[in-house]
Amino acid sequence: MTNSTLDLIHAHGSMRHFKSDPLPDELIETIVGAGQRASTSSNLQTYSVIAVTDAARRDQIAQLCGNQDFIRHAPVFFAWCVDLARLDQVCAMRGYAQVTEYTENFLIATIDTALVAQNAALSAESLGLGICYVGAIRNHPREMIQLLDLPRLVFPIVGMAVGYPARAANPRPRLPLSAILHRDKYNRDQDAALHDYDRAMIATGIYENRQVAVPGKSDVMEEYGWLEHTARRVAQTTRAFLRAVLEEQGFALK
Ligand SMILES: Cc1cc2nc3c(=O)[nH]c(=O)nc-3n(C[C@H](O)[C@H](O)[C@H](O)COP(=O)(O)O)c2cc1C
Repeated sequence: MTNSTLDLIHAHGSMRHFKSDPLPDELIETIVGAGQRASTSSNLQTYSVIAVTDAARRDQIAQLCGNQDFIRHAPVFFAWCVDLARLDQVCAMRGYAQVTEYTENFLIATIDTALVAQNAALSAESLGLGICYVGAIRNHPREMIQLLDLPRLVFPIVGMAVGYPARAANPRPRLPLSAILHRDKYNRDQDAALHDYDRAMIATGIYENRQVAVPGKSDVMEEYGWLEHTARRVAQTTRAFLRAVLEEQGFALK
């Protein structure tokens, strides 16, 4: 089954090579305006986005985001932020005090922000633009908050580089549907699907035919693939400082 929307969705591949052409303001507004059409918890719209076009500022952002060079080359960097500050204002206007200190408050805003960002991403791609999310926006959150002048109760959860692609997107295979689509109850038997996916990812060539020892058998080698790559990745602690910065910013996560 297919249609033009499904074709667009399936053509997605993160873009990390951009032409230098700037994005007209109208295009930025079209993308973010379409993003805003995403569903939003209780119509609270707990997000804001900072569209950074200034080259010097994008250079500073790139430095804070692991020096990922494509951020310098993309004409726009969107900093997608959870935003409960606006609702503080709403409460003040009506004589209430907002409750913000529970995990649920942050989760609501995080889900809303992810939905608006992804709607914007698809909208950008529908207009012939390329996008790449930047989770590294959380590498140095205090510095990022300062750079973007974010008030209390606003926190940058993900960035997005957007621009005209300088090469074709390269859609990456996804896990077999059988691994993520469960029928009626959770299916724990995912071994075959994971091995199938490992082979599919190895076939893309991104791991450059590296070899790695089989776990527990140091003398037997097998191909380095998504399984090894992913296991290594999630075996590391990442950004363990985030909770403290969230608390400083007003999200106590109780
Ligand atoms: C929340 C999030 C954060 C990401 N952060 C980065 C990043 O900092 N740098 C990067 O190059 N790609 C980043 N990506 C892109 C992913 O690596 C990419 O989506 C994934 O490998 C699948 O590839 P595809 O988008 O080309 O299908 C991020 C994606 C998401 C959803």
